[in-house]
Amino acid sequence: MLKALPFFFSVALLLAGVSAGQAQDADAGEAVFKKCKSCHQIGAGAKHRSGPILTGVVGRAAASAEGYKYRKDILAASDKGLVWDEAYLSEYLDNPTDFLRRYLDNPKARSAMSYKLKNEQDRRDVIAYLASVPTGQPEASASEETTDAPAAPKKSIEEVIAAQTFSEEFLASAENFEAGKEIWFDQCTHCHGYKAYPGKAPKLKPAKYTPEFVFKRVYKGFKKMPAWHEVYSVDEIRQIVAYVKAPGFSP
Ligand code: HEC
Ligand code: HEC
Repeated sequence: MLKALPFFFSVALLLAGVSAGQAQDADAGEAVFKKCKSCHQIGAGAKHRSGPILTGVVGRAAASAEGYKYRKDILAASDKGLVWDEAYLSEYLDNPTDFLRRYLDNPKARSAMSYKLKNEQDRRDVIAYLASVPTGQPEASASEETTDAPAAPKKSIEEVIAAQTFSEEFLASAENFEAGKEIWFDQCTHCHGYKAYPGKAPKLKPAKYTPEFVFKRVYKGFKKMPAWHEVYSVDEIRQIVAYVKAPGFSP
């Protein structure tokens, strides 16, 4: 949403959201937030997904989003007084489980959040973004909210899935392979990578899947596999399919 706004406006939001003069960029952070969207929503109309709503999380007591079922260790940290200031958030995002172990002084503590955001600048930026999203009811987003009377009806999830076909040429394209590979290592290996086994997710067996099946699972999600249709465009998800189906895919 910020991306579409004029530059001065996003700077104003940034300055309103966090103290001025820091090397943080809420606009860059909005792009980083893509990495969070398979599990978290923020802003107007946000709902709990596999992770809690993040609206207003900066400055708030940990594990206090209403109606979300947190794991016991983050609740213990909250009982101990954990409030999400920028420093704690940065440590948490770097490695949620390690952070809880340190904070609780309990080597068995675990976070339900498996994702780790290793890049420090990305962490600063995404925290600036989290702080920039207004907590009140939106005033200006009326156009987004009037879903009752859509101008052009959007295709349903099932229609998009049904429309996919994959040519040999598309699947063999080096460009698609590289683009899909980047997303795979960024977004998928913390559940599907060899380091995540066993437990987080099944090891993929691409030879057994049709490209259409991979598209459907990634686009729509399935049980504990997150849906990615709000995170990536159809074209990007097709590129993930090209990577997963390629001989050079490494799970
Ligand atoms: C794979 C899913 C997943 C991804 C990706 C993910 N999270 Fe989470 N996140 C969770 C879950 C699940 C929890 C709840 C943790 C618990 O109960 O232990 C959580 C908790 C949190 C919390 C604590 C919220 C609170 O109310 O105390 C913050 C902050 C957070 N995530 C930020 C992020 C950010 C920022 C990103 C992206 C850089 C991100 N998360 C990516 C699943 C995810
Ligand atoms: C939060 C952990 C998580 C993340 C992140 C994740 N997956 Fe999954 N994925 C799962 C789980 C769990 C399943 C098994 C779902 C089931 O069948 O119950 C699964 C299933 C799948 C399947 C179907 C496998 C089968 O044998 O039926 C595919 C394909 C897949 N994931 C691809 C991906 C891709 C590509 C990404 C990155 C864009 C990704 N996943 C990210 C957890 C995850």
